[in-house]
Amino acid sequence: MDNRRIGLFDSGLGGLTVMKELMALLPNESIVYFGDTGRIPYGSKSVNTVIKYTKSDINFLNTFDLKAIIAACGTVSSIALPHLRGAYDVPIMGVVASAARAAARATKNGCIGVIGTAGTIRSGAYRKILAKENPVLRTVAVACPLFVHLVEGGFATKEAARLVAEEYLAPIRESGADTLILGCTHYPLLRQVITQVLGEHVTLINPGYSAALEIKEKLASADMLAETPAHDQYRFYVSDDPADFTRLGSVFLERPIEGLAEQVDIEQYL
Ligand code: DGL
Repeated sequence: MDNRRIGLFDSGLGGLTVMKELMALLPNESIVYFGDTGRIPYGSKSVNTVIKYTKSDINFLNTFDLKAIIAACGTVSSIALPHLRGAYDVPIMGVVASAARAAARATKNGCIGVIGTAGTIRSGAYRKILAKENPVLRTVAVACPLFVHLVEGGFATKEAARLVAEEYLAPIRESGADTLILGCTHYPLLRQVITQVLGEHVTLINPGYSAALEIKEKLASADMLAETPAHDQYRFYVSDDPADFTRLGSVFLERPIEGLAEQVDIEQYL
């Protein structure tokens, strides 16, 4: 048993898709969430910049007594974590490997689509893991940079999102992929429009769900599951004004988080 918190971070709102799955699967766990809303997007930045941001995010989270940290961001998991292995005492987990394994299990026709930020797609992280899982799998990868802005701007279920999705997802539809990895943690918020464009027959892989399942297994096998939640079970921090984050975050998490997020000066943790 281990009642310490789990730390979660993302460049903004997207990591809440991971948090939501964790809250459902592990209701006794206490979580501290950091959204780097002042420096989003990470997906268009260079590898060195994302590594620098990631280090400060982890340094901030390490001011809490944590049993694990989840990089709830596809970009960080793809391009920064491979450079930071072994650099911290606290175990740090990404969202890429578990989602790739889930997709390899789900596909029936062997063709898997991957969508993510420019950085994630350029890294080839999903393609490499999928090839290792099963070398006969065919992968079609497309960067969808505008998706993040649609989500952060509150347009996830609007017509504008569908029009952009039509453009971005055309190569996925043409490839005949029967499984699509939502390789950016913001994208599960676009699930509805993605399904409208690709059809119900395409299985969508939510990296948040796969990561939550994996951490549950890891904590259970190490006897580190929490027995009781802290009185302030969920804490939220952001690096810019919390107003938009808490407004959209409340809708998404289906619980009010207005007034719960605090702003931190993340530059202090470089
Ligand atoms: N949450 C990020 C990811 O999963 C996308 C947003 C960004 O570009 O920072 O890749």
